[in-house]
Amino acid sequence: LANLIGIIGGTGPEGKGLAARFARAGHDVFLGSRDAERGAAAAAELSALTGNKVRGGANADAARLGQVVILTVPYEGMRTTVRDLTDDIRDKILVSTVVPLEFSRSGIRMRHVEDGSAAMEAQLVAPQARVVAAFQNLSASHLIDLDHAVDGDVIVCSDHFEATREVIELAGKIPGVRGINGGPLANAVLVESMTALLINLNRLHKAETQIRIAGL
Ligand SMILES: NC(=O)c1ccc[n+]([C@@H]2O[C@H](COP(=O)([O-])OP(=O)(O)OC[C@H]3O[C@@H](n4cnc5c(N)ncnc54)[C@H](OP(=O)(O)O)[C@@H]3O)[C@@H](O)[C@H]2O)c1
Repeated sequence: LANLIGIIGGTGPEGKGLAARFARAGHDVFLGSRDAERGAAAAAELSALTGNKVRGGANADAARLGQVVILTVPYEGMRTTVRDLTDDIRDKILVSTVVPLEFSRSGIRMRHVEDGSAAMEAQLVAPQARVVAAFQNLSASHLIDLDHAVDGDVIVCSDHFEATREVIELAGKIPGVRGINGGPLANAVLVESMTALLINLNRLHKAETQIRIAGL
């Protein structure tokens, strides 16, 4: 399993949460940002939190240095972010955690995405990359709470078999998490939609829900 993980948009809650868990699991983690100083500051914060050295800087460095690259930017900024980094990402595993959400007074909905899902769109923007959709429904607040296991399944969708296997293994490094093969990248829309459901449930029940698949 590749040891160096680069996180694009790593200064937000989801990027930091994943970074904390992977640093604790012994991975080298590089947090990227549009602003290299912000990336370095977030990395210093995580080094202190985890007790493991986390590095940080520009998104381009996260994409260039990462053996596996994880994308944790909002959907709105995803297309241009990935497009600008395609030369750095090359044919690496690019993990999309992105959920295209639309906030309205009646609740949270999926945004209409022309290409089917955020993950499919990322694959079309970076055709050489081995895009894997995963981690969309792991709550950032559970991830950063290093004193507790996370208690959730991660459904992993990709058209690249070896990449799926690696990301399932990576998911399993987070205590309490099980990675499950979710089939081709075309299935990513189902997982992204389920995340919208979970966020609605969180609001309704004042909770932080995760999912567990029974029967597997
Ligand atoms: N929060 C959760 O619990 C959670 C759970 C599962 C999945 N996700 C998914 O993970 C992604 C990140 O979530 P988050 O809550 O961490 O989001 P966030 O805080 O809004 O964004 C993460 C980082 O992305 C960068 N960013 C913001 N707008 C951008 C733009 N227009 N273009 C490029 N970069 C931009 C920012 O970093 P810099 O300003 O430093 O560049 C920001 O710190 C989302 O797609 C979300 O759907 C979130």
